[in-house]
Amino acid sequence: MTLVRPRRVSARIDGRTHGLCATVGDPAGGAEVEPAPVRVVPSTDPARLDDVVAEVELVGPETILAAAVAAQTAARSWAAVPAPVRGSVIGSFGRLVADNADALARLVTREVGKPAAEARGEVQEIIDTCEFFRGEGRRLYGQTVPSEMPDRQLFTFREPLGVMMVITAGNFPVAVPSWYLVPALLAGNTVVWKPAEYAAACAQAMVELLAAAGVPAGAVNLVPADGRATAAGLERALAAGAVDKVGFTGSTEVGRSIGALCGRHLQTPCLELGGKNPMVVTPDADLDAAVSAAVFAGFGTAGQRCTSLGTAIVHESVHDAFVHRFAAAVSAAVIGDPTGDVLYGPLLDARFAAGFERHLTLLRDHHRLSGSTALGRITGTGGPAEPGAAGTKGAAGFGGLPRNGPRRGFVGDPDRGLYYHPLIVDGVRPDDELFREETFGPIVGVATYRDLDEAIELANLPGYGLSSSIYTADAASALRFRRGVRAGMVSVNGSTTGAEAHLPFGGNGRSGNGSRQSGIWMLDQVTRWQSLSWDYSGRLQRAQLDTAVPAADLSFRLSG
Ligand code: UN1
Repeated sequence: MTLVRPRRVSARIDGRTHGLCATVGDPAGGAEVEPAPVRVVPSTDPARLDDVVAEVELVGPETILAAAVAAQTAARSWAAVPAPVRGSVIGSFGRLVADNADALARLVTREVGKPAAEARGEVQEIIDTCEFFRGEGRRLYGQTVPSEMPDRQLFTFREPLGVMMVITAGNFPVAVPSWYLVPALLAGNTVVWKPAEYAAACAQAMVELLAAAGVPAGAVNLVPADGRATAAGLERALAAGAVDKVGFTGSTEVGRSIGALCGRHLQTPCLELGGKNPMVVTPDADLDAAVSAAVFAGFGTAGQRCTSLGTAIVHESVHDAFVHRFAAAVSAAVIGDPTGDVLYGPLLDARFAAGFERHLTLLRDHHRLSGSTALGRITGTGGPAEPGAAGTKGAAGFGGLPRNGPRRGFVGDPDRGLYYHPLIVDGVRPDDELFREETFGPIVGVATYRDLDEAIELANLPGYGLSSSIYTADAASALRFRRGVRAGMVSVNGSTTGAEAHLPFGGNGRSGNGSRQSGIWMLDQVTRWQSLSWDYSGRLQRAQLDTAVPAADLSFRLSG
């Protein structure tokens, strides 16, 4: 079969015209859809707000519907490509990502401010995903199942769903989309992909790499759109029967409305939502190791992972020592220009900065703050940097920390980007909003506990259930925690973040609807089981009615 490249349509990145495949037609069906941009928005570098990375043409609901119809047309021929051949295309995509890894990672750093090393790790996660699913093209196993009838054989087959609409956040602008795109395509589905507007250049690069790998026209359709147009477009596409599955990574709130919408169309979406991920530190834990993990889990990616540490739940006997070391490590951490070797860079985008500012209003008098010399924005000059200089709370500051101000050891120009001070909030209580809500920024709460049951209760209390961690030297504590915590992912003596690309990824409660991504578990999201019963007896054999089971004497007992 000849695999054809997508037709490129307009988008400007860096002032040049690029092919943002708003929709691509299926040459076989002859259907081509011109994207109709309704608005153009800039995607800017959050570390250098004057650097426009891309001009993004946002489309409206009609274009999303048209893209879904184009994907539906393309789905027939893509599903007819043998699975091992689709696996080869995924293999080529993985190779292309590896060969373009530095350029792609640089784009991730530039567009969403992810530190260079982490961006490279994110690109590696795509390569790992391709490595896993390339081989799956030669498996996609079904089963042969015995029948209760003679001369009859039963089978199961994994069948593609049709069109998957993928809606992704920009904190992992390339790896998380690959968790959907790669298995969906491998299984023979086609895709409509709505990336985060502020990560559209990364999405564009992904689509170009997919096209170069031989993914045919119409199989992946990129539709940059805002939330409102996406919801309206999805609703129309579902009503038209042009979307068979939705994959969504983002907030619990949006996930809930996508779930409701899909439910009305009898569909179960694959939802990967927020988290308020706990890390329990037991009395016998290696405290230095726990502190290193808390720094990485809480402040890596500026706390903007769905798996980021929310609250450290520390045994009262080691609480003071833990907080002391945690505060010292965070105070000393290098923050700044993400092209350098920093713990974290800027927040993703202005919307996330505003959201983080809102979370700072949840600080209360009983909270003890550490980790920084100021609260809020990191600035170049001005603002008193001495603790206590700006009073207690209100616009000027809180808890003795001045509002906004410079940070010692900052790398780069803080005034050009969306940089925020890290914050440790000790003394959070179960009824604090800060304890219950995902904060998605560089802030970690600390709570104390007396016995493990209380720690497990606190870990579950916010009602999320994505990731979790326990630092302990005691196997029984680790196993009791594993069993008691309602998180989909548990780490013993490790970070809440950094799941490997072939383990089931996903959560429960407010973190998702129980769907799992990555590895073989993702196959259940991108395929449907079909069963086959094949009778070669030459007569009608009725299951249950004609099944010949030898009579048993159930009253039989052994003598003696
Ligand atoms: C996310 O933030 O949506 O486990 C995904 C991790 C990463 C993926 C995070 N591999 O932290």
